[in-house]
Amino acid sequence: MAVLALAAGAVPAADGEAIYNRACKKCHRIGLEDSPVAGDKAAWAPLLEKGMATLYQSVIEGKGSMEPRANKPDLTDEELRAAVDYMVDLVK
Ligand code: HEC
Repeated sequence: MAVLALAAGAVPAADGEAIYNRACKKCHRIGLEDSPVAGDKAAWAPLLEKGMATLYQSVIEGKGSMEPRANKPDLTDEELRAAVDYMVDLVK
């Protein structure tokens, strides 16, 4: 698995939208548990300032009531990053 993740740059990017729909939407579509709502520019502006590396890390390690790996241990770092990228694209 680690080898796969390292080689990920060479394979087609993970489908961030599909991962978002499966693993993130139930909270981030409606702001469940005070999560930043997907597509809400005002809510995301301060998050973007923290930088992508921090946002990726928050999802991988968990933050507040968001469990590590969004409680989907089967998702790879690459897939979790793709879901973050998808949500960030929504507010760009
Ligand atoms: C159980 C609900 C829940 C799920 C599922 C969930 N999140 Fe979150 N997310 C939250 C909450 C709550 C916060 C705010 C955490 C805080 O600041 O205390 C958050 C914050 C974030 C942040 C901002 C992190 C930061 O550093 O401020 C990102 C990025 C994020 N989520 C991405 C994702 C992605 C990607 C997924 C799917 C793979 C996901 N979330 C799934 C509840 C959820």
